[in-house]
Amino acid sequence: MPGIFITLEGIDGSGKSTQARLLADALQAEGRDVIFTREPGGSPGAEEIRRLLVEGDPGRWSAETEILLFFAARRDHVERTILPALEHGAIVICDRFTDSTRIYQGTARADLRKTVDALHDLMIPLNPDHTLIIDMDADAALARGLARKSGEDRFEDLGNDFARATRKGYLQLAQDYPDRCHLIDGNRAIEVVHADILTLIQRLLA
Ligand code: ADP
Ligand code: TYD
Repeated sequence: MPGIFITLEGIDGSGKSTQARLLADALQAEGRDVIFTREPGGSPGAEEIRRLLVEGDPGRWSAETEILLFFAARRDHVERTILPALEHGAIVICDRFTDSTRIYQGTARADLRKTVDALHDLMIPLNPDHTLIIDMDADAALARGLARKSGEDRFEDLGNDFARATRKGYLQLAQDYPDRCHLIDGNRAIEVVHADILTLIQRLLA
């Protein structure tokens, strides 16, 4: 595949969306062909599924149903947005991908990691080249996320223990996939985190 696929991961409120956008803008300013996208969503069909996932009561779906909805959205996103861009040679920067399902549905919410891995292998024909995991204090990240009051707080509503479990899951993930995963300290100012990420990605792309 001629393009490069970069994903950003981390707990809610860790600064992923902020950093994904800053990274995309910086690479674009260097004259590179960059597509910025996100999950759940990133294609018209997947954005419709997103609303079913991020709004409403935390207990709305079982963990299993939730996994299937995330993969339905992901498959559409991959088919219609990510693969065409990579085939075209673009750098695709994606805010969350299968690692989020591995951690949220497969580890923190239920013990379903094997199910998530099996569905990924069956349905998703690619893996990220590089994954930036923004790590930070779970309570501080949750406070940031809730301060936004986006109306998309179904997962934030699961509370501090859930946020701590997701953080622990991400730290383990970084050990499981050391070649593609890079831990970034998200407890610092936005510009400091951005400079760190940009230096790392420029080195990886060189
Ligand atoms: P995520 O996508 O990981 O949920 P966001 O990028 O949406 O996180 O950031 C959540 C909130 O925290 C936003 O209001 C954002 O402006 C703020 N924020 C992001 N990064 C930082 C940072 N390094 N320090 C302080 N606030 C931040
Ligand atoms: P997102 O819009 O990235 O939220 P935030 O900016 O607050 O981090 O994602 C929405 C929610 O969906 C978020 O709480 C994480 C959750 N999620 C999963 O549980 N599993 C998944 O596979 C994905 C992609 C997201």
